[in-house]
Amino acid sequence: MNACTLYFDRHPKLVMYQLIPFHRFRETPQVRFFDITISHSNARDLVFHEGPATSPNNDESGAWQFYLHPHQEDNLMALSGGRTFYLVNFTWLNPFHIVRLEAGGDILQIPPGTFHRSVSDPDGSLVLNQAVRSQQATVEREFRVYNSAEIPRLKQLTQEMMNCVNLHQLGRSHHRAA
Ligand SMILES: [Fe+2]
Repeated sequence: MNACTLYFDRHPKLVMYQLIPFHRFRETPQVRFFDITISHSNARDLVFHEGPATSPNNDESGAWQFYLHPHQEDNLMALSGGRTFYLVNFTWLNPFHIVRLEAGGDILQIPPGTFHRSVSDPDGSLVLNQAVRSQQATVEREFRVYNSAEIPRLKQLTQEMMNCVNLHQLGRSHHRAA
């Protein structure tokens, strides 16, 4: 099997990211009305990117930086614009994924322990996070920034990403093998 083939589904013990559809109450040309409830969420944050922002930003040398929440699950929904998420989790059989969110699309659920960064489209984006924080969560720990230049395995994976990409887009998936 090619190293880039997606085969996590055969290993249900691995906690993968998910794309969660939500219930659309009503959708007309001018009105869209959704139930976006994440029932176990106990925290909310809203992240606005003005223009093609990268979060967290790259370091001075251009190395990618990431967030990783030890005790928080993210549930991310684009309210406007588009944003691309880069995910790395050392416990996944294929540890690197790219997931694109667009307004009105599915909710991206990122499990704790996953490195993640995001880049907005040229016109920016607004993303709502219906987070789930455990009791151990602290702001200092959950929002620490990790520099890929200082973590050899993370550095290697970010470089490999250019040769082996899994792109998941709303309602459909594209898998490109290196
Ligand atoms: Fe996050």
